[in-house]
Amino acid sequence: WLLLLGGRRRREGEPPLIQGWIPYVGKALDFGLDSLAFLKKNQEKYGDVFTVYIAGKYMTFIMSPLLYPSIMKQGRQLDFHEFTDQVAPVTFGYPPVRSARFPDMGDQIQRSFRLLQGDNLVTLTESMMGNLMLVLRQDFLGGGKRGAEAAGKGWSTGGLYDFCNSVMFEATFLTLYGTPAQARRHSDMATLRHHFTQFDNKFPLLVARIPIWLLGQTKAVREKLIRYFLPQRMLYWSNTSLFITKRSEVFEQYDALSDTDKAAHHFAILWASVGNTVPATFWALYYLINQQEALQAVRQELHHVLQLPGSQDPREPEVMISKGQLDQLVFMESAINESLRLSSASMNIRVAQEDFSLRLDEQRAVAVRKGDVIALYPQMMHMDPEIFPEPQTYKYDRFIEDGREKTDFFKNGQKLKYYRMPFGSGSSMCPGRFFAVNEIKQFLCLLLLYLDLEMEEGQEEARLDNSRAGLGILLPTKDVRFRYRLHCAPA
Ligand code: HEM
Repeated sequence: WLLLLGGRRRREGEPPLIQGWIPYVGKALDFGLDSLAFLKKNQEKYGDVFTVYIAGKYMTFIMSPLLYPSIMKQGRQLDFHEFTDQVAPVTFGYPPVRSARFPDMGDQIQRSFRLLQGDNLVTLTESMMGNLMLVLRQDFLGGGKRGAEAAGKGWSTGGLYDFCNSVMFEATFLTLYGTPAQARRHSDMATLRHHFTQFDNKFPLLVARIPIWLLGQTKAVREKLIRYFLPQRMLYWSNTSLFITKRSEVFEQYDALSDTDKAAHHFAILWASVGNTVPATFWALYYLINQQEALQAVRQELHHVLQLPGSQDPREPEVMISKGQLDQLVFMESAINESLRLSSASMNIRVAQEDFSLRLDEQRAVAVRKGDVIALYPQMMHMDPEIFPEPQTYKYDRFIEDGREKTDFFKNGQKLKYYRMPFGSGSSMCPGRFFAVNEIKQFLCLLLLYLDLEMEEGQEEARLDNSRAGLGILLPTKDVRFRYRLHCAPA
């Protein structure tokens, strides 16, 4: 009768099986309520490996980070793209990539990711610096009308998330997609951002395969976002990154891809490039402002690396910060990594390509079935007190030892190969990770050079909104207020 309810029986050699009584849903509700507590409870009861039936999928969770290396090694039987190929088209609205209609397109798309790294990162970094300077100066530092107002008043106040969002969204957009024909900025960026936020709020539901027509205005909003990237519009943009130019060229090779499909692919990259980066930037800045000691240490390091005497006047010629100098900012990098540790909750997923025996370590193996999902949930590791003492506490220098990056973290006395995983792992690791950390560094550099920053008093601490647990960097439940003024402004 279990089978009649949609369940299955555990076979010899398989991990313990946990399935709820509701067909299809299984344990999805418990998982969704508090994924970390749910997984912890089951780990205590069943050990490091167990299978949970969640929303129509059998998911085998590998809980101990000591077992992660073994999972990474079994790439042949465990595929990442099968999962994204199912979820991404439904979420962003383009046809499945790996189909006979689009021979070789999946591989070409994968190859395009290289344009986010290596030598191309130097060009992207330079372009990002110019765009960050442009947006910050015109809107906040005394360049444009809004900026001039801000500069004239001494302290200005604002929502911290809103601030990070407006700067990072636009600067990232300009860096990747380019500028309009006759201007340095797109005039409708605030509207695009507004629509993006509306879509992003429904993102967890779309990934959970709730049909888009059940989600109110989401379909119409997504259509507007997609239309923004129609080839006839993008044709007029200049300074477009090589990464996006290459992708446009790839899409042009496929007649079966409509203009709207091509635009939907570009829109998906917009989501990938800002959906996590904006909340990550928020947390990086939030923790620094809240701990003035950390902020001072990171600022000192910055002045030391740039060999600057003190604060900067934004009206003076731009400070250039090279990629080499960004690489030297080890305290800033540690601070960013620490905020990523505290805020990231991405699940790493692989799909079993056949029935096989999954080797866990020298002694142990478990049987998995074709189509089952193998899931790593690194947040468990990021919050493990044995690996990171006082895991709830922000320690900006947690990833520094003797002035260098600290790389030895231990579990059960064994050194961990994987201990920080906000960007995923192995073959599916985020191809934008170097660009992402660089752009957060650049943003922090400019703020620390030009601004005094403080939290407004008398407000609650920012808390993580768990509604997108499993999907990346968590947003704050609500925005917090901060204040800022130019270093050179009178007290
Ligand atoms: C995939 C995290 C920024 C482009 C991913 C994945 C994660 C992730 C967890 C899935 C990897 C896996 O499951 O193993 C992040 C975080 C970011 C960030 C935390 C910021 C702090 C960026 C940026 C870009 C980008 C700035 C592009 C400019 C992508 C793409 C994929 C991806 C294209 C899909 C890769 C594939 O299909 O193989 N990211 N990401 N990401 N990310 Fe990022």
